[in-house]
Amino acid sequence: MNFNKEPFDESTKLKLEIFGECFREWLPVFLHDKYTNQIAIFDFFAGSGSDSNGVHGSPLILLKEAKGENRKYCSKIDKDKVINFIFSEKALHMSKELRSNVEKYKSECINANQCGDCVYKISVEQKDFKSAFNDPETQTVLKDKNIGKFILLDQYGFSQIDKDIFLQLVNSPRTDFIFFISSSYVKRFKEHPNTKQYINTESMNFDQMQPKECHRVIADYYRSLIPPEKEYYLHHFTIQKETCKGNYYGLIFGSNHTFGMEKFLKVCWRNDNFSGEANFNMYNDFEEGNLFHVKNSSNKKYKVISELRKSILSGLIVDNISGFKYTMRMGCEPKLFTQVVRELEEEGLIKRAGTLNYSSTNIHNAKRYYFEVCNNANDKN
Ligand SMILES: C[S@@+](CC[C@H](N)C(=O)[O-])C[C@H]1O[C@@H](n2cnc3c(N)ncnc32)[C@H](O)[C@@H]1O
Repeated sequence: MNFNKEPFDESTKLKLEIFGECFREWLPVFLHDKYTNQIAIFDFFAGSGSDSNGVHGSPLILLKEAKGENRKYCSKIDKDKVINFIFSEKALHMSKELRSNVEKYKSECINANQCGDCVYKISVEQKDFKSAFNDPETQTVLKDKNIGKFILLDQYGFSQIDKDIFLQLVNSPRTDFIFFISSSYVKRFKEHPNTKQYINTESMNFDQMQPKECHRVIADYYRSLIPPEKEYYLHHFTIQKETCKGNYYGLIFGSNHTFGMEKFLKVCWRNDNFSGEANFNMYNDFEEGNLFHVKNSSNKKYKVISELRKSILSGLIVDNISGFKYTMRMGCEPKLFTQVVRELEEEGLIKRAGTLNYSSTNIHNAKRYYFEVCNNANDKN
């Protein structure tokens, strides 16, 4: 199969767009962080660089994002900062094509911008994923807490991100990753020994779910692999193939930092303002144009709002920080939590103590406030 020999279809374009948006959100955080002198961006299933129409594939998308509009990133890179792009691809002919596409892209960019040389170090390797990942140099980078890492894993199918790889990603410091998975295949071949070899499908209960929910079931499986004592954030985005509506793919993003997840959630909600988790109407919302459509409201938000209200009023959520994290674990942006706090306050059901504010972004820096539940709250609610 040669993924890059034909034009990318719409669902592939969406996947690539999300990769690009995700990296666009990620890069400035690490570029502007004065404690990060080294950044590594890995694209382990890099392909050849473009489709048959010359539309950019993931490696060139990453390079374009790293330049930024009007060279807003690459022209301001601190001299002490080392930024490495590592593209690897197993197929020899594709890695050769990628090398030449990257060279061409780089020289055209240098010429167009008259900048002498590229500030980024770019390497293209012909390697199988497992050998690239287990390479001692890669392992050293993965374990280094001073290096900011962005890892893109655009595998075919589902076999490459097994439990061991997933846990290595989760346990790598300062590492955000995003991987693609063919969720319908896992569901379809659930009982096959070749599937079970890579993913423990025993725990996946697809029968109780609708086909459109299969990617969420798979994301839950990966969630279950995270050690319970570890503070970690994982979110998923389902992609339905437009030419074959029964086929579901998806992305899984992981970060050990709330800011990483804030950024990813922003991308997801920008692409799906009903549920922040799919390229279709996952929770049967009334769409725009329908008589019952309500702007800025959705079934998913409604469900999360009522859970948040209950959790605050029952004392399960005692402060804003834990509330933000809870909201993000439910796949919603922290601002939804602040909306609930304002409503409860206006209804006279809670009071707040501590450093009062309504800030909902950069929650790792947010000032903490606490809830006092009013005596009459649980009768009224
Ligand atoms: C879905 S395509 C990725 C395309 C690329 N991200 C793009 O945007 O054009 C998967 C790529 O992974 C390569 N591949 C398949 N198995 C691999 C492996 N075990 N290790 C590394 N690359 C592999 C394939 O040759 C193919 O180019």
